Amino acid sequence: MSDIMTDLLYSEKQIDGMDLKPDSFPIFQSTVYTMSDMDEVGEVYGKKERGFTYIRRGNPNRTVLESAITMLEKGEASLCYGSCMSAILSIMIKELKAGDHVVCNSHIYGETKHLLQEVFEKFGVETTYTDFTDVSNVKAAVRENTKVMFSEVLSNPTLRLADVKSIADIAHNVGAVLVIDNTFTTPLAFAPFTAGADYVVNSLTKYINGHNDASGGSVTASKEKIDALFDTALMCGGLFTSPFDAWLIHRGVQTLAVRLEKQMENACKLAAFLEKHELVDKVYHPSAASYEQRSLADEMFKDDKYTAILSFVASEDMNKVNEFMKRLQYAQYAPTLGGIRTTLSHPVTSSHASMPDADRRKIGITPGMIRVSVGMENIDDLIKDFEQALEAFR
Ligand SMILES: Cc1ncc(COP(=O)(O)O)c(C=O)c1O
Repeated sequence: MSDIMTDLLYSEKQIDGMDLKPDSFPIFQSTVYTMSDMDEVGEVYGKKERGFTYIRRGNPNRTVLESAITMLEKGEASLCYGSCMSAILSIMIKELKAGDHVVCNSHIYGETKHLLQEVFEKFGVETTYTDFTDVSNVKAAVRENTKVMFSEVLSNPTLRLADVKSIADIAHNVGAVLVIDNTFTTPLAFAPFTAGADYVVNSLTKYINGHNDASGGSVTASKEKIDALFDTALMCGGLFTSPFDAWLIHRGVQTLAVRLEKQMENACKLAAFLEKHELVDKVYHPSAASYEQRSLADEMFKDDKYTAILSFVASEDMNKVNEFMKRLQYAQYAPTLGGIRTTLSHPVTSSHASMPDADRRKIGITPGMIRVSVGMENIDDLIKDFEQALEAFR
């Protein structure tokens, strides 16, 4: 069996009906494909697999990207969307109706919470939020009408781990589906489908593309679920990735293994440096000596591949936080994650701005917390830069 690094370079370069063999897969920037007569129309529409007819139905750039994601996530099939939020929206629309109940991790990406709280509540779907770090909370939250359970693998920004296998069992016992957002971890660190998740979503805007120049999302599931989702999401919803974005993301995913392995290694090294630093109070990363869910992390992650995100807490003095950011030569503030360059975010003023201060503090989020999306810079350069900038906290 070949390694993922090799597989990504050779995944599905040929497309049905194409005679040329370009080394770089071209962009099919066309919304429609013509057919010369009714025989061909019959042939294209009569095929079991979806042929290329109209943009919502299919596009070769989406097809090659979907194959790469399916291979990475070890699923049966995938669909690619304009963003991860449209991917999540489509699953909720497909799986839920008025009167249904959702159990969602309380440590979840803000817009996912917003979607359930503001949009689906309006349509008569109730959601219970609970801390998935403790599986007994999840058991207690389940009801007879629970149809969907939703969690990320590692939560933002404190990197709490959800035990996907145990949660999948709880979901399946009540006939619910488990949706896992794998954006922070990516399939290189953890493959939720193999742990029992029914749907796996990824923000392709992040690590999978890696270059902060394209937006996309994906859903990976069984072939049956993906076929059912296709009509809702793409034919009716039109939520697909554009050919150009799909082309960029496919170009990006081919180097995912090299980029991300380096970034995850850098994150472990930066976390170890920060943990020892006298001006840093706490570090959140599964590799950290102080990580609270050590044994679960050891069970779920292999070869020190966790995530390239870490958070750390220093002084709450906002002038010092500001000075720290100004002093950094490389890492810049950016409201995203997963690019090849190191970026920072400040949860109290961004992702967790709407949460009351007391609630934030209960889960360790203070004004002194900085989240780092670790890039692929030379680690010595990165550490040296953090070292000089941390002097701002003295
Ligand atoms: C964990 C997680 N899920 C989903 C999303 C949404 O991704 P997109 O911007 O591609 O819709 C984000 C964005 O930051 C995220 O961090």
